[in-house]
Amino acid sequence: MNVVELENVTKDYHLGETTVQALRGISLSLAAGEFAAVWGPSGSGKTTLLNLIGAIDIPSGGNVRLNGHDLASLDDDRRSDLRNKAIGFVFQNFNLVPVLSAIENVMLPLQIGGMPGGEARARAHACLTDVELEKFEEHRPDQLSGGQRQRVSIARALSTKPALVIADEPTANLDSVTALKIVDLMRDLNRREKTTFLFSTHDQRLLSHVDRRIELADGLLTAAA
Ligand SMILES: Nc1ncnc2c1ncn2[C@@H]1O[C@H](COP(=O)(O)OP(=O)(O)OP(=O)(O)O)[C@@H](O)[C@H]1O
Ligand SMILES: [Mg+2]
Repeated sequence: MNVVELENVTKDYHLGETTVQALRGISLSLAAGEFAAVWGPSGSGKTTLLNLIGAIDIPSGGNVRLNGHDLASLDDDRRSDLRNKAIGFVFQNFNLVPVLSAIENVMLPLQIGGMPGGEARARAHACLTDVELEKFEEHRPDQLSGGQRQRVSIARALSTKPALVIADEPTANLDSVTALKIVDLMRDLNRREKTTFLFSTHDQRLLSHVDRRIELADGLLTAAA
């Protein structure tokens, strides 16, 4: 089954008089269990593409289908609900809530989804254990290193057991040893839990670790292996 299907997707940004065509017609599908990277130079449209697939933004043209649902046919509430249940999103800048501890950050999407506090805490503890951060649960983001924050944001993305995890440059700003550990962790979860992963990267060294490279240049796919 395809988790993601894109059909001739375009995205324009309007800035005053000018229009930036960030995506110029992307057709792409991602099967359940894939481990894929979107790769391309700065400005090629990687973040734009991931935001559309993650239901964070809507396309200017074409269709995005997630788990068989056409995103354009859903109202805001149903789109948010699908995003909360089906997708885990790892942001490049982590987007952790600074005043909350690591475990509270991971509990947040579970509680938004209506899970009782005790159950959410137990699930968040298990997710933090998966990323080897169980000893740091009570730390706030500013009391963690960059790599640890990235792992908290991965634990948060995984907490709802989403079918799809989207990560926008999850290893940017990390040293190469930590970057490889993060990729190994994602790979391990992909194999163990069959979670579909789609992440973007600038870093060519990470590409040897993926099953599939989706290359973008100037808003178009150059190769979809
Ligand atoms: N909110 C916005 N308003 C206007 N233009 C935008 C906006 N977001 C992105 N763009 C433009 O769309 C194009 C694609 O941007 P995008 O952020 O998707 O690239 P990227 O591949 O993620 O780049 P990077 O590797 O630097 O993160 C760029 O030309 C960018 O300037
Ligand atoms: Mg980007």
